[in-house]
Amino acid sequence: MRKPVIAGNWKMYKTLRESVDFARELAPLLAPFSSVERIVCPTYIALAAVADALKGMEIKVGAQNVHWEAQGAFTSQIAPTMLQGLAEYVLIGHSESRAYLAETDELISKKVKAALAYGLKPIVAVGESLGQYEAGQTSQVVGGQVRAALNGVDAANMANIILAYEPIWAIGTGKNASGQLANNIIGGTIRATLVDLYGRSIADSVGIQYGGSVKPENMAEYMSQPDIDGALVGGASLKADTFTELVRIAAQEKGK
Ligand code: PGA
Repeated sequence: MRKPVIAGNWKMYKTLRESVDFARELAPLLAPFSSVERIVCPTYIALAAVADALKGMEIKVGAQNVHWEAQGAFTSQIAPTMLQGLAEYVLIGHSESRAYLAETDELISKKVKAALAYGLKPIVAVGESLGQYEAGQTSQVVGGQVRAALNGVDAANMANIILAYEPIWAIGTGKNASGQLANNIIGGTIRATLVDLYGRSIADSVGIQYGGSVKPENMAEYMSQPDIDGALVGGASLKADTFTELVRIAAQEKGK
């Protein structure tokens, strides 16, 4: 049984104060849903304070990105060693980092290996653009991104990785992919790629989220799909009521 995972990606929202207040507000609301892995990913500047506010709670903290070197002359960057003890998870390969920070598949693969080497659990995002989707290239693009990101990752480390399928055309647009489409890509393309790389039993053990305009109104549609193990959420993770509702629906649908 794969544990459902809901991660809130706060992106470049919320100041330090707002992040801490929000984490304190969320903690008791999310506490009852222990069948779900609950993760929040604040900005770097709020990471330590949020980690502190959530200490001893079951809500986990993730960073939104990481560098591939342990330290060095990389102005503005954050090393995996610096996240140790603060974050358990780290987002890698988010489409906004791929698009606006020019992160390539090769770079993403380096970051995944570095995160694992320092005991962080990567949440690796993959997804096709609108043009690729309309040209029928989704499987080819997504399968290629998964292979590239996992290049050099051995089977033993797959227990520490979560994948997230986020069609770029569905992120922040309000245009979500249907549950069935997302399930086909996750169960078909992504899990099939994992079978090819690591064999059936490991492929079946890896958690794979859907992301892109997930909200309370469409959450049950995703969570009722057998291959979708949770959600990576932007907009709807920024408010306590909507994020709590997403976690509640995940617990309910996956508990059936
Ligand atoms: P969204 O963002 O839920 O606001 O579409 C998802 C994401 O970027 O991870």
